[in-house]
Amino acid sequence: MIRFTKLALIALVTISVGHSTDALLTNPVGSSTSTGLGSRTFITRDIKTPDPIPVEGQEAALELMKTGRLYRYNVKSAEESMVSQCEQAIIDYTGHKYCVALNSCGSAIMLMMKCTGLKPGDKVLSNAFTFGAVPSAIEHAGGKAVYVESNDAYVMDVEDLEKKLKANPDAKHVLVSHMRGKLGDMNAITEICEKYGATLLEDCAHSLGVYWEGTHSGHKGRVAAISSQSYKMINSGEGGFLITDDAEVAAMAAVYAGAYEGLAAKHTTVPGPEVFGDMPKEIPNYSVRMSALAAAVIKPQVQTLDERAEKYNERYDTLVSKIKARMGDFISVSPITPGCTRPVHDSLQFNLSHDLTDEQVQFFLDQCAEHGLPVELFGHKTNARNFINWDFAPADEPLPQTAKMLTRACDVRMPLMWDDEDFDDMASVICESLEAVLAKAEE
Ligand SMILES: Cc1ncc(COP(=O)(O)O)c(C=O)c1O
Repeated sequence: MIRFTKLALIALVTISVGHSTDALLTNPVGSSTSTGLGSRTFITRDIKTPDPIPVEGQEAALELMKTGRLYRYNVKSAEESMVSQCEQAIIDYTGHKYCVALNSCGSAIMLMMKCTGLKPGDKVLSNAFTFGAVPSAIEHAGGKAVYVESNDAYVMDVEDLEKKLKANPDAKHVLVSHMRGKLGDMNAITEICEKYGATLLEDCAHSLGVYWEGTHSGHKGRVAAISSQSYKMINSGEGGFLITDDAEVAAMAAVYAGAYEGLAAKHTTVPGPEVFGDMPKEIPNYSVRMSALAAAVIKPQVQTLDERAEKYNERYDTLVSKIKARMGDFISVSPITPGCTRPVHDSLQFNLSHDLTDEQVQFFLDQCAEHGLPVELFGHKTNARNFINWDFAPADEPLPQTAKMLTRACDVRMPLMWDDEDFDDMASVICESLEAVLAKAEE
């Protein structure tokens, strides 16, 4: 239980009141309402606001609907296919050689394992902290997930990776998930995979626009997957891409996705027919292709990725410095791994102090929610990012480090469509909610 001196409390309340008054002056018709002494900031904007589709994408989608040609292969040539054009835009951005557009990133992750030789029952080492879609994709590919501890910065613990590879010499796949766009130590992870002869695969669902040592994420692994589900950097509702420099993997992925007979000829970002050989007869068609409609709305979004990343990062820096300045004793924001040369902060993660009790953490979350900001706790008993909720792929061994981190790790989206002032309110609601926790402890 936190104990507080009267003096510290008075100081906190003074700072809190100061901000509220300020918000009242600068944001009279904005999303927050502050009504004077002792007042609290309220947010009325929707945290789930997705990025809108650029006009160019809306028009392209309308054109497609007029013709009805929504199936990627309903075109005369590969070049005129909207899906092919979108695949090209994606790899022009990431720098990969090949790309196959799919109905989801989960499908891309499942195919990464199938295309790199995973057999039923084979072990796949992956992050203990990620979204449930990742162990689900391992299960979908017929693999058995073995979890590697994550650290307080939400990334794969390299020491535990080596320990788990040593303990599981039969494991030949490591699937690193860049959860919330955070890259682990990719040099160490690559070295360890090489040492143990394991194929490295990258889940870049959240790391589009994120760079490792000046190169776009997804180049350390043999294959990578990205997502265009609505809450990602590109939005087509549902969608994903498999990206790789490996010709055989790209050909297999296209056939698994649904390039049956000679349909591979209607792709522009896969290798030539010599690589496909008899694959359309040997490999099943899982029908996980992307529709032309999804591709039409994604393509123009790729052009604005860097601009949007910059905006996110500016807002993030301001938000974090405000929270640290006011509540740095009780909230920590983990630094990014040094080799990450360009993050994309489209959401905020922070760790509450372990000095707070579970009840105080819950009170903090309730306070945030009551003031219009749904902050999620990764370790909540219903959160799909908490490994205890993956009954379909349970951990065989305890994961104490990840479990402890999850109990205090909080997550908030930073919707692009919000205004700069809304992020001031976000900082205020977080700080004021924590102050309410501390004040209660004094009662
Ligand atoms: C870390 C992570 N990987 C993979 C996925 C799967 O993405 P999709 O929803 O496109 O299948 C998600 C989904 O949100 C995710 O959060």
